[in-house]
Amino acid sequence: MAKTFDVVVIGGGPGGYIAAIRAAQLGFNTACIDEWKNDKGGPALGGTCTNIGCIPSKALLQSSEHFEHAGHSFADHGIGLTNLSIDVKKMLGRKDTVVKQNNDGILYLFKKNKVTFFHGRGSFVAAVDGGYEIAVGEERLLGKQVIVATGSSPRALADTPFDEEKILSNDGALRIPAVPKKLGLIGAGVIGLEMGSVWRRLGAEVTVLEGLPTFLGAVDEQIAKEAHKAFVKQGLKIELGVKVGEIKNLKKGVTVAYTDAKGAEQLLEVDKLIVSIGRVPNTTGLNGEAVGLKLDERGAIVVDEDCRTNLKGVWAVGDVVRGPMLAHKAEEEGVAVAERIAGQHGHVNFNTVPWVIYTSPEIAWVGQNEQQLKAAGRAYKAGTFPFMANGRARALGDTTGMVKFLADAVSDEILGVHIVGPMASELIAEAVVAMEFKASAEDIARICHAHPSLSEATKEAALAVDKRTLNF
Ligand code: FAD
Ligand code: NAI
Repeated sequence: MAKTFDVVVIGGGPGGYIAAIRAAQLGFNTACIDEWKNDKGGPALGGTCTNIGCIPSKALLQSSEHFEHAGHSFADHGIGLTNLSIDVKKMLGRKDTVVKQNNDGILYLFKKNKVTFFHGRGSFVAAVDGGYEIAVGEERLLGKQVIVATGSSPRALADTPFDEEKILSNDGALRIPAVPKKLGLIGAGVIGLEMGSVWRRLGAEVTVLEGLPTFLGAVDEQIAKEAHKAFVKQGLKIELGVKVGEIKNLKKGVTVAYTDAKGAEQLLEVDKLIVSIGRVPNTTGLNGEAVGLKLDERGAIVVDEDCRTNLKGVWAVGDVVRGPMLAHKAEEEGVAVAERIAGQHGHVNFNTVPWVIYTSPEIAWVGQNEQQLKAAGRAYKAGTFPFMANGRARALGDTTGMVKFLADAVSDEILGVHIVGPMASELIAEAVVAMEFKASAEDIARICHAHPSLSEATKEAALAVDKRTLNF
């Protein structure tokens, strides 16, 4: 006999677990199914984000940044250190503790919100009267409404499977047991730059091979150029426009044959290779065929603007559908779907989804960049302000980068904000709020910002749109 629920969520990552909590808050009898296992075989809620994505990567970025500061910038503050060392085992252990705190936090939230959790793989059995039958092991659930939030998996290169020993996905990249002497990365995207930064800071010689001729093509060109300059100065070797050829997984390391941008044949020899060339939607084991769930040519579940699939009462959110693969985008969709099921007007504004790359300097943006505005023929004004001219940045000793505003030439409405520099991940929130409220650059320029703070650079960049910065 199947257990009946108003809402069954398949997947307990940020899309799924947030959708389940919101559905329960709205009074629905809700179940969430997730198959992720911790190293003891128990549940590990939070999906890619918590287990092998956002959270552990940020833990390692923090540890490695402390190490780099201790080795390079403490001396400027008059702090002397001798015998600086890194205990990788301890650093990884700390990261695992942070992950576990988040896993347990979600289990607690499920109890608090009365979400029934099933540990195992959820798969469609059939469409039945009043909903869908779903199997979890021997158990059978009946979901009147179903939300699919099964996430994504790393894309491997053809004929180069991940062994997670020497050829690593983001999973293995987060648990390299000792600092490799030479580390190679394929793909200078978000994972490539974040993971490359972690291991470079700890002492690895890092080479990143990128297929495209441009660096961070989705980022505002001026911002990407500034970031590229900073990364190269730090010692990250980034080769653009390469064509990766044969990869050999040898006893002692890995070799990557490639053609460089000038057409010359090259061979990269490394101890470990991280392949970070994007991710693919995850529908393995879901048995969507049993109910006729429609996928697109990329394997993503086809949804409309409101996350409705082709099946009545079946919704899909997060990495398994179109749009940016970001945890906060997945969460927003999860909340909106739960609210739509309740007859409310859930809404996700894709134009104000912020992006952050947690390198040093950090890169963050929201809205449109200069290339996009030019391509659209939109008349705009730009204003920039460098952190070099910001008192707090000088006091921090972190003056790389700038804040850049793009505003409509006539109405002054903010069209995009782009930041490269310290705490860009936090500063971008003000820009998101401003854009949600359809603020003009002048609105931000007229708001009192605390002194000394990095946020003054945001205000000054807004002033720069009208060519009236006060401190530059
Ligand atoms: P997932 O988090 O992938 O969760 C899906 C869950 O469903 C998993 O637990 C999976 O086991 C489970 N599942 C799948 N199929 C089934 C099934 N049939 N039955 C039961 N369970 C199933 N995003 C950011 O916004 N900020 C960041 O800083 C950031 N850093 C990242 C760093 C790395 C290294 C990586 C890889 C990703 C990062 N991301 C980041 C992206 C972010 O992790 C994803 O966008 C986010 O996790 C997507 O959430 P989701 O709920 O759609 O899917
Ligand atoms: P990505 O899409 O960010 O970057 C992949 C890069 O690999 C691209 O620059 C692409 O041109 C390049 N590439 C693809 N095929 C190649 C080939 N054969 N040879 C050489 N280069 C090749 O993907 P990535 O870094 O794997 O991350 C996946 C997703 O995870 C991101 O797009 C993002 O959505 C999410 N993520 C988000 C983070 C954040 O928000 N801070 C952090 C890490 C991941």
